[in-house]
Amino acid sequence: MRVVESPKDMQRVCEELRSAGETIGLVPTMGAFHEGHLSLMRAARDSCSQVVVSLFVNPTQFGAGEDLEKYPRTFQQDSALAEQIGVDFMFAPSDKAMYPEGYATYVNVERLTEVMCGAARPIHFRGVTTIVANLFNIIRPHRAFFGQKDAQQTVVIRRMVEDLNMGVEIVELPIVREPDGLAMSSRNKYLTSEERKEAVVLHKSLEEARRLIESGERDADRIVEAIERTIGTARHAEIDYIAAVDSSTLEPLVKLEGETLIALAVRIGSARLIDNIKLRV
Ligand code: PAJ
Repeated sequence: MRVVESPKDMQRVCEELRSAGETIGLVPTMGAFHEGHLSLMRAARDSCSQVVVSLFVNPTQFGAGEDLEKYPRTFQQDSALAEQIGVDFMFAPSDKAMYPEGYATYVNVERLTEVMCGAARPIHFRGVTTIVANLFNIIRPHRAFFGQKDAQQTVVIRRMVEDLNMGVEIVELPIVREPDGLAMSSRNKYLTSEERKEAVVLHKSLEEARRLIESGERDADRIVEAIERTIGTARHAEIDYIAAVDSSTLEPLVKLEGETLIALAVRIGSARLIDNIKLRV
């Protein structure tokens, strides 16, 4: 595996690969790899002849007072894991390389970024789309791989790719979970052992919602209330939002119908955790 730090070098290498007929797969990440990240790399490895993983803790997607400084940085371990999977290139630029002096360009997807996670994190998605657009311009991947863990992120990125004719195929892969059901996340490291035990309520509440829907419940408010009740049993949990929406437009549903996304964000201690399920109703 080759580690590349300069955007210009990465661009030149990828241009050569593309002209040579290679299929380039990109897995954008902020590092601190767990099985969720690795599952994306394996999928890219299976379907692309060249796999690029980007590792960049993107400052523009963190709001003031968020966890940019304490976000885990484990480069040595990350590069060893990526290498084991057979990743070809790790693109790991510096902050200065991605946001040099005078940098002034941002990509903003409207509406879809104003709801759910966007309501509590107003500049977050603008940072995500800006960095992902830049990565797409540098690497020009044929395919890019994202996790359902960040379902709204995938919806926003798909919108950007379509609106700006970026010509990148977006592949979304299922959520990888810990044995007790907690969705894997770099932010789980922020939980104390007591909070970690409580954090299982996110998954538990979503599975209960799934059972209710499977037994015929279609009323979105009642599903949301059931989720609230379950999360309420965890002492340190504070709900940010619970949403039942159309999984591609993020429009709120009154009666569940079609491709449905049930998503939530919950604060437990100093961590803000997200989780979701998708179902066809
Ligand atoms: P990061 O949080 O590092 O996540 C990188 C990718 O891994 C995302 O597509 C995310 O959805 C996926 N992922 C995280 N946890 C997962 C899990 N438990 N199961 C499956 N996939 C999981 O998302 C970002 O970075 C950034 O916003 C980024 C897109 C890199 C832009 O900076």
